Amino acid sequence: MIWKRKLRDETTELIGGEQVDAGLPIAQPDDQPAPTIVESAPAASGEVWRRPAAEPGPMLPRFMASASDDVETDLANESARRRLALRDALGASQPVIARESFAGRRDAMSDLINAVEEQRVHVVIYGERGIGKTSLAHVFAETAREARYLVIYGSCGTAANFSDMFRSVCARIPRIYHTSVLPNSAEAEKGENFEVMLPDGPFGARELADVMAGVVGTRVLVILDEYDRVVDVNFRREVAELIKNLSDRAARVQLVITGVALNLDELIGYAPSIRRNITGLPMRPMNSAEVKELLRLGERAAEIRYDAAALAMITQMAGGSPYLVRLLGHQAGLMAMNDNRNVVGDADARVAVERVISDWQASLPRRVQANLARDEARVHWGLLVAAARAGSSADGWFTVDDVYAEMGGAHSPLAIERDLKLFVNTVDLLERREGPGDPHFRFGYPGVASLLMMSAAMARLAA
Ligand SMILES: Nc1ncnc2c1ncn2[C@@H]1O[C@H](COP(=O)(O)OP(=O)(O)OP(=O)(O)O)[C@@H](O)[C@H]1O
Ligand SMILES: [Mg+2]
Repeated sequence: MIWKRKLRDETTELIGGEQVDAGLPIAQPDDQPAPTIVESAPAASGEVWRRPAAEPGPMLPRFMASASDDVETDLANESARRRLALRDALGASQPVIARESFAGRRDAMSDLINAVEEQRVHVVIYGERGIGKTSLAHVFAETAREARYLVIYGSCGTAANFSDMFRSVCARIPRIYHTSVLPNSAEAEKGENFEVMLPDGPFGARELADVMAGVVGTRVLVILDEYDRVVDVNFRREVAELIKNLSDRAARVQLVITGVALNLDELIGYAPSIRRNITGLPMRPMNSAEVKELLRLGERAAEIRYDAAALAMITQMAGGSPYLVRLLGHQAGLMAMNDNRNVVGDADARVAVERVISDWQASLPRRVQANLARDEARVHWGLLVAAARAGSSADGWFTVDDVYAEMGGAHSPLAIERDLKLFVNTVDLLERREGPGDPHFRFGYPGVASLLMMSAAMARLAA
């Protein structure tokens, strides 16, 4: 069962004139009916919050500032300036790209630098959705550029194609860094890049490594972000082959890949000998000191303060996800500012959690919402929450034993397995992976596990 209650009447689409920035997956049109929305307020668990439609008010909301961001001259409004500052500091829809907006992660950063600089290996940074892989990659890129690495960032899409991706990587490596080009030669003067050395048309890892092995005078780091989105098996096999070839030839080119743990296993599976040339870097949930540091960014920007209770609630509810810390911190901060208070308290944090759960729920595809509202989900709510907790590892996969441990031995492993299968076969909420060892399960749609955990935590608080 999932927890649901009616939102307070003043909860509308806009908070302080600013659209709630959930940054969540957009609901897809689906032919399944959405579950009924409960408008009453049962305090028990088992239902999900829904935001009521905004009441028509006397005045339509307006933008706070012009698109030029020039608040001072447009509105001369100090409060609007602080709201915008809070949004800039804690808005959750974009990865962080600059060090000033990046909190914590010192260990991850030093492990990454160490892997690249000391061990000279290729790296796979892996972790669940929204844990901060892209942000780490960007800030690492900035740091590496300061050390004069030539860093090339590429974001993979579902349609990524090996030749196209690496042709554009090569187009960004100046030819003067190739061993065959002398500094003052005609080729060097022409300002060409590595792309001219590639064959016309599609090429594979070997041909690419032939070209890349010629890098001298710098070191090249190729960041392949969102690698888990790549669908083409051939692309992934070629990347494994490329790592092998680059390593065999001691090329001055290293790959930094962000994805999920499975990507690491798969790369090694394709080319077992690369095991010693590749390292996996799991992104762990943020600890409470890192959460505090992240919220500090909002405090400084908007001249507010999160009190100890608000901090504790946000830390607990976010479960180490920087994405959720920002979302909750932003919402709670706005609540206090709307009330002309500079101190954000636990009541603000609680309303923020309510809003985030409600927005989150509404952003899931109707099919997923309908499945969460089914009787089976209500009956096995405890199991689903335990599964969500069990799945909060770097790749979201969990086993029957993991769920058994989360449930404190309250149900037998056999019963747990049977019930998990129900959510694979009958109610489409989980995926199942067979393979060597125990069967693995995970939630089929990103965000469902976090929603369940937050709903459960809120239900506990209400109780
Ligand atoms: N160290 C950090 N400091 C401050 N904010 C962070 C940090 N890491 C991540 N965030 C924030 O968390 C959110 C998710 O981060 P990011 O996009 O980097 O995660 P991701 O793991 O790449 O997600 P995905 O799996 O969807 O690609 C973003 O809003 C980002 O601004
Ligand atoms: Mg990312």
